[in-house]
Amino acid sequence: MIRIPKHIAQLTPYKAGKPIDELAREKGITKIVKLASNENPLGPSPKAMDVISKNINQLHRYTNPAAFRLVNAIAKKINKLPSQIVTGSGSDSILQYIVTAFSDIDDEMLTSEGTFIGWYVNVNKYGRPLKKIQLNNYYFNLDAIADAVTEKTKIIYLANPNNPTGSYFTKQQFDEFVKKIPNNILIVLDEAYTVYAESLPDYPNGVNYDLGNLLVIRTLSKAYGLAGLRIGYAAGAQELIKELYKVKLPFEPNMLAQEAAIAALDDDEFLTKTVELNKVSLNIMKTKFDQIGIQYVPTAANFFMMIFHTAEFAFLFNEGCLNRGLILRYVDTFGIPEGVRINSGTLEETKFALDVIEDVYFQLKKKYEVSI
Ligand SMILES: Cc1ncc(COP(=O)(O)O)c(C=O)c1O
Repeated sequence: MIRIPKHIAQLTPYKAGKPIDELAREKGITKIVKLASNENPLGPSPKAMDVISKNINQLHRYTNPAAFRLVNAIAKKINKLPSQIVTGSGSDSILQYIVTAFSDIDDEMLTSEGTFIGWYVNVNKYGRPLKKIQLNNYYFNLDAIADAVTEKTKIIYLANPNNPTGSYFTKQQFDEFVKKIPNNILIVLDEAYTVYAESLPDYPNGVNYDLGNLLVIRTLSKAYGLAGLRIGYAAGAQELIKELYKVKLPFEPNMLAQEAAIAALDDDEFLTKTVELNKVSLNIMKTKFDQIGIQYVPTAANFFMMIFHTAEFAFLFNEGCLNRGLILRYVDTFGIPEGVRINSGTLEETKFALDVIEDVYFQLKKKYEVSI
């Protein structure tokens, strides 16, 4: 018998939003709308699709192992040196490399309860001690996180805006926080949803900071519409980026992903449309939630987290929506058992979702006589 290390035997792997084909198979439903994984309802960037078809005949070649042209394109876009950027197969891959490169077995990882499950899984996968601080009314409690630092703390993970709550912390809050953190502790600032938040006047855009102990993580999976290709990057001090290159797998992101990412980064028209549609869809949702009495957290991202009275209600609500062909994300595994997340959609998807939500919500409310 092969002995499985305890931390792997006990590991709960990452569980993604339910794929459309899986639900279709399970329930025999034909009309399905998925608003579970914060994907772009407009599809991929058209410029990205175009270069993919142009590069398809190069699939027999290994790609540039350091993603030279992509790294340069990102550096130009965010005003950094190429030596301050490393790319990977999605930001999830980068998060894994951060644990590999910067932590030893006993180093404590500090973060919040109710944040991105991918970070928890990456930390648990390596058997590192994980300390989670309670959210403060669904917001990161930066003061409590700073107070929880000990001599064992090695990495602090923050997501801004946070997934699954959609809440964000301000520039002032972040500035105060970084002042309190000793420079031998790495701060990982995950900005997966920054495109949706960066127009907020008090949003602390992480790439504007030049700190020796800060890594900013971004992805092209959300606003750029390239989740299926897997492209993410880290930006920060050269001394940190250098270490990530040591542990990174050589040929990621793959060749088509690199080409598509370069094109997508230049697709301003698509990005503008994306942000616009997101605003419209979320506004329609907000109006409906207010009208029917569903609670939610104010969002700076491309999704809302609805909050229900009990975990049971949230679970059954999510199941009820699934049965009607609407895939949402029940976020108990993120540490919020009363929450269900929904991302913005096309106008048609938004309407379908809200019709289903209204029906399921009122049916359940009646059944359980829950007064919310
Ligand atoms: C906060 C946050 N970070 C990272 C990721 C991972 O994104 P990807 O691996 O697709 O780049 C997600 C995806 O949901 C996320 O919400």
